[in-house]
Amino acid sequence: MAIELKNIFKSFDTADSFSVTVLDRINIVFESNSSIAIFGASGSGKSTLLQIIGLLARPDEGSVMISGKNYCKDSIDEDEVAHVRSKTIGFIYQNHSLLPEFTALENVMLPQLILGVSRKYAKEYAMHLLNQFNLKDRANFFPSQLSGGQKQRVAISRAFANSPEIIIADEPTGSLDENNANIAIEFLASEARNRKITLIIATHNMKITTIVDTALKLQNGKLSTYKIGDI
Ligand SMILES: Nc1ncnc2c1ncn2[C@@H]1O[C@H](COP(=O)(O)OP(=O)(O)O)[C@@H](O)[C@H]1O
Ligand SMILES: [Mg+2]
Repeated sequence: MAIELKNIFKSFDTADSFSVTVLDRINIVFESNSSIAIFGASGSGKSTLLQIIGLLARPDEGSVMISGKNYCKDSIDEDEVAHVRSKTIGFIYQNHSLLPEFTALENVMLPQLILGVSRKYAKEYAMHLLNQFNLKDRANFFPSQLSGGQKQRVAISRAFANSPEIIIADEPTGSLDENNANIAIEFLASEARNRKITLIIATHNMKITTIVDTALKLQNGKLSTYKIGDI
């Protein structure tokens, strides 16, 4: 699915009532089925941008257009936004954010159950995903019984569970060691490509530059082309 950002502006008020501009009128199109990496120093606004693209937050000004529809206009129906979020977009966070009281399998089933998929089908598909991520024998483990890398692979499986058209990943390998980070990131990017999912990923992992279609950097509120060695 194509995503177009038009004139995205976002600032935050600070305690001493100054306003800090984090996103300064960003205009860009992410083509359907493309993969985009976003680099940027800590505090440059990557999470803010991804939350806005993922319809989890609103910009102060501007629009997020998904398949040509503006999801930021005042008249938008919140239920419709929530529906698009759960049906179309998969989100992966830096910390796996798995629900601790559910097993790996149940965590991957949940987004499907919320959308009304039958338990039987949700379970089958969750097992299929866990199998693909080499987690079959960990399906009935609770998050506390999994390593950091395994937990993050479960979280990645969960992001694929709704067969989303867009996956947004916010430093998804930030808590992993380099080896696990590289494995997870290659897997995420290749699966997204195979499934024709638009992937937008904020990361510090340089390996991704060889995998994605476009590498961008976020600096001073603007997105520009990333060049090796930039950040
Ligand atoms: N809810 C908030 N209230 C105030 N300032 C915020 C809020 N969220 C983010 N910021 C500020 O916006 C800037 C960008 O933050 P963030 O998007 O988290 O950056 P990154 O993900 O690149 O580290 C930071 O200066 C941060 O302090
Ligand atoms: Mg962040």
